[in-house]
Amino acid sequence: MKITVLGTGYLGATHAASMAEMGFEVLGVDVDPAKVDALSRGELPFHEPGLGELLRKHVDTGCLRFTTSYEEAGAFGDVHFVGVGTPQRAGSFAADMRYVDAAVGSIAAAATKDCVIAGKSTVPVGSARRLADLARASARDGVDVSLVWNPEFLREGYAVEDTLTPDRMVLGAEDAAAEAVMRRVYARQLEAGVPLIVTDFETAELVKVAANAFLATKISFINALSELTEAVGGDIRTLADAIGLDERIGRKFLNAGVGFGGGCLPKDIRALRARAAELGVEQSVRFLAEVDDINVRRRGHTVDTVTQMLGGSVVGKQVAVLGAAFKPDSDDVRDSPALDIAARLHSIGAEVAVYDPKANANAAKRYPRLDYVDSLEAAVTGAEVVVLLTEWAEFKTMTPEQLHPLVAVPQILDGRNVLDPERWSAAGFSYRALGRRATV
Ligand code: UDX
Repeated sequence: MKITVLGTGYLGATHAASMAEMGFEVLGVDVDPAKVDALSRGELPFHEPGLGELLRKHVDTGCLRFTTSYEEAGAFGDVHFVGVGTPQRAGSFAADMRYVDAAVGSIAAAATKDCVIAGKSTVPVGSARRLADLARASARDGVDVSLVWNPEFLREGYAVEDTLTPDRMVLGAEDAAAEAVMRRVYARQLEAGVPLIVTDFETAELVKVAANAFLATKISFINALSELTEAVGGDIRTLADAIGLDERIGRKFLNAGVGFGGGCLPKDIRALRARAAELGVEQSVRFLAEVDDINVRRRGHTVDTVTQMLGGSVVGKQVAVLGAAFKPDSDDVRDSPALDIAARLHSIGAEVAVYDPKANANAAKRYPRLDYVDSLEAAVTGAEVVVLLTEWAEFKTMTPEQLHPLVAVPQILDGRNVLDPERWSAAGFSYRALGRRATV
């Protein structure tokens, strides 16, 4: 069985390399020749732990190739995975489906043998049924093209692990033959005991957005509570630990801080609201507007806290910003709270030095006017306040003794609640956090 992966961005590149690792011959397809050239040389255009090695290994053995040609893909693949983007549409909350539509239509028209198209992109519920019709209508005479929906749950930073050993797999399949093909594709995971939930198209599409909406809600819940603990002088981490011990709640995704960002959570909750409104059930997910508001409020609150720490004005003050990526182990700055906060501080007059172990280059493309430096030491030297915004290991393990001789004023805002307040204040820092008692 031969596999193609349409779209070689974050999801597609990971899926293609993982499929090669599972023993398939894989062809990755992208309309961007520069991306195809880089991947064909074994170069990964973004940072993801473990993925570069996997890519090089399978490009070298020839099991993994890349092309811009749908013709070539149509002749090659028995299963075509669709992993192209569904960005937020300009001027709206809805997802832009034009890349998915083009990929499905083009591959169905190019297929010269019977095949399965497996959708992976995050799409508005109802898309798979429409795309199944589009695929059938575009297929050549005598070629059977059927569609399944197979959403992706991978997390940046753990993308390879999440693809090779997921905690569950979901398949929207309404045709027994196509389901059987997909069971062969995932034989390795099924043998290892990974649960496979087979359902209709609509439920499969919704599982993905429901999971992301739940995670976003969990984060905004704890962030809302952190507004309360901050007001009364409580400790949000202890509170999260305590409620998290209840197995029904669970401790994961209860880390309060500057809020969620990235290419998925913010966009997906907005797209779900837009889709619910189109379906006439807007009120069903109205609470997601509040989830979004709480999240956006974190950024303004962080800027206000820094301003307060600097005596009421940031103008001309040296601010060290630690982190630009939306989360650690990633160079992704899409909708990053860290970078947004850095840019806001700069826009109200602060002198901002940003250091991120991997995301400086991407951040500089987005906000070229900030000062990007290439070490923690360079960022904090002369700082009147240090602001930790992305919890890279390097920042979690830095010590007050290391920073104290370098900073102009020993004060730190822990935007991710990852430092030990006692330790930092004992070493002479005034410590502030989002949702914890301040120490002076
Ligand atoms: C998310 C989903 O987890 C994944 O299943 C889906 O396929 C894609 O979207 P990802 O965007 O890679 O994955 O990041 P995730 O680890 O979910 O973090 C999202 C954001 O939430 C980050 O900005 C992170 O910093 C933030 N976050 C996460 C918190 O603020 N607190 C937490 O407790 C957890």
